[in-house]
Amino acid sequence: MAKFSAFFSSSIGKKLLMALTGLFLCSFLVIHLTGNLQLLKHDGGLAFNTYAVFMTTNPLIKTVSWGLYLSILFHAFLGLWLAYQNKMARPVGYAKHSGNAPWYSRSMAILGTLLLLFIVGHMADFWFEYKFGKVPYTEYHILVTNPDAVSSKPYTGHIEGKMAEYTTADNQTRVVVVKDLYVEVAESFREWWLVALYVLAMGVLAFHLIHGFKSAFQSMGLNHPKYNGIIRFIGIGVFGIAIPIAFAIMPLYFFFFHN
Ligand code: HEM
Repeated sequence: MAKFSAFFSSSIGKKLLMALTGLFLCSFLVIHLTGNLQLLKHDGGLAFNTYAVFMTTNPLIKTVSWGLYLSILFHAFLGLWLAYQNKMARPVGYAKHSGNAPWYSRSMAILGTLLLLFIVGHMADFWFEYKFGKVPYTEYHILVTNPDAVSSKPYTGHIEGKMAEYTTADNQTRVVVVKDLYVEVAESFREWWLVALYVLAMGVLAFHLIHGFKSAFQSMGLNHPKYNGIIRFIGIGVFGIAIPIAFAIMPLYFFFFHN
């Protein structure tokens, strides 16, 4: 036990913890993006809203979510601590000679702090609102013989929990009443400044991940010419470009194409 805690207090141990929590956060991004892509479906938000209910009521996912919040805080504060220690340990004048590394790899603490601020604001807007705010309910009618035929209207009654569903007596229509997070997202992204902030934040995410993904594998000692190509491809192509662009498309889509 003493050896274990000594290892994680060492510089290498702390870097390994940064790498593991960072990669866990990367895996969250893939799941979050896959779920959010349902915002782009033309079903008035039915798929997205039922997905949100599943993600916030399934006991296993709820447990993983607490691990996620702790990882975000742990990764952010340990990262800041390591950056501070590095700065203190650096010989005077070091900054003048550190020009070889790209600017974003020298600015990981600043990029990470900006991302933490983004996540706090983002969770206050959607996550907190969904859990504790006054989110309206919507009633969807889905034709049993053609599930793509969906109509919806605001629901003014009262149900227990986030969702209720039943099939009408003639077996023709499935009715789903659900807490409407989709409408909250759509309303938020009507604001041009919020959309601009999200797009900028996705730029910050891109640079943080371009360096961070590759760096995590180095910290884990997985630095081998055989694998460096694939790590570079996933780090830059997938996490540095494709994922931030896909996230940025959502606010832009709502602002420009959703009425
Ligand atoms: C730009 C497009 C994005 C949209 C439309 C979006 C939308 C949402 C919504 C609606 C929620 C609340 C519902 C839920 O808990 O699943 C949420 C939660 C969250 N989002 Fe996002 N998000 C976006 C990007 C991001 C990014 C880039 C990050 C991280 C850097 C992020 C981090 C989080 C976190 C940590 C939560 C709480 C998750 C949980 O409780 O399990 N989101 N997001």
